[in-house]
Amino acid sequence: GSAALDLPMFVVVGAQSSGKSSVLDNVIGRSFLPRGSGTVTRRPLVLMMQHHASEEYGEFNHLPGQRLTTDAQICSAIEKATIDECGEKGFSSRPIYLHYYSPTVPDLTLVDLPGLIKAHAADMDPSAPHIIKTMVLEFAQAPAAILLAVTPAHSDLVTSDAIQLAREVDPDGQRTLGVLTKLDLMDEGTDCSTALLGEDPRAPKLRLGYVGVVNRGQKDINNGVDLTAARARERTFFKEHGVYGRPAMSGARLGTEALVATSSALLVEHIERSLPKLKSQIAARLEASEGELA
Ligand code: GDP
Ligand code: NA
Ligand code: MG
Repeated sequence: GSAALDLPMFVVVGAQSSGKSSVLDNVIGRSFLPRGSGTVTRRPLVLMMQHHASEEYGEFNHLPGQRLTTDAQICSAIEKATIDECGEKGFSSRPIYLHYYSPTVPDLTLVDLPGLIKAHAADMDPSAPHIIKTMVLEFAQAPAAILLAVTPAHSDLVTSDAIQLAREVDPDGQRTLGVLTKLDLMDEGTDCSTALLGEDPRAPKLRLGYVGVVNRGQKDINNGVDLTAARARERTFFKEHGVYGRPAMSGARLGTEALVATSSALLVEHIERSLPKLKSQIAARLEASEGELA
């Protein structure tokens, strides 16, 4: 049998350019996912991180034996695999599979996906919105998927594409974490503190709540601002902010470090919950192959 076991994975969902690839990059602690304004992510990327005692490299299923060691090499290979499959503008539901080995990563699968779009651009395949939604649903509906529902903080949470899609597959919000991005781009004098505290009556209720982050902006990407510098700046942003910096916000989850901590905790919970099922799946698999052998 080749069916995958129901191992837990993180799946990002959200509108185009909401910051999905940026969020994943931050969770991984690397800078190899292509990011930018417009439709940059056009095929699913299934990123299987595997703990390795001593070595650090990426290897794609479609490039067996090639060990890529720099972020730039991995990023170019993702861009090339996208263009080879989809051309300059198209979309495809055929995933790119990337294994990433490192002493500093846990065993974890993350899935980066194209953004949901409502209207198609003039030069885009008119069926694109439907193609994208179908492929996102396919990954998001897996019971083992923990959904990172990404919404820019300056857009309306009530009409968030991310949360609406997550609701379709996880109506009770058992496995959906709300991630608010671009807190730095909110209109001066506005903030999303009530949503982050779970006290915004208009915000969709999520059992796992919301985390707020500041990722690298386009200028930072163009200037090659590294992750450490970006994290430091994010910390300063929250600390010095007139609202987020207040003691009343101490109960809220602010910043990428909080996102990473929350995600890890969710993963552990999820694994504990699904262990009995995993064990029985493995046992059934074993029995089947022993049967075949006999
Ligand atoms: P995706 O299309 O959802 O994967 O979004 P990307 O991660 O590619 O980001 C889209 C654009 O938004 C890029 O230019 C990012 O630099 C920018 N961006 C993402 N998150 C933030 C953020 O928190 N603050 C700012 N200022 N820009 C962001
Ligand atoms: Na984008
Ligand atoms: Mg993307």
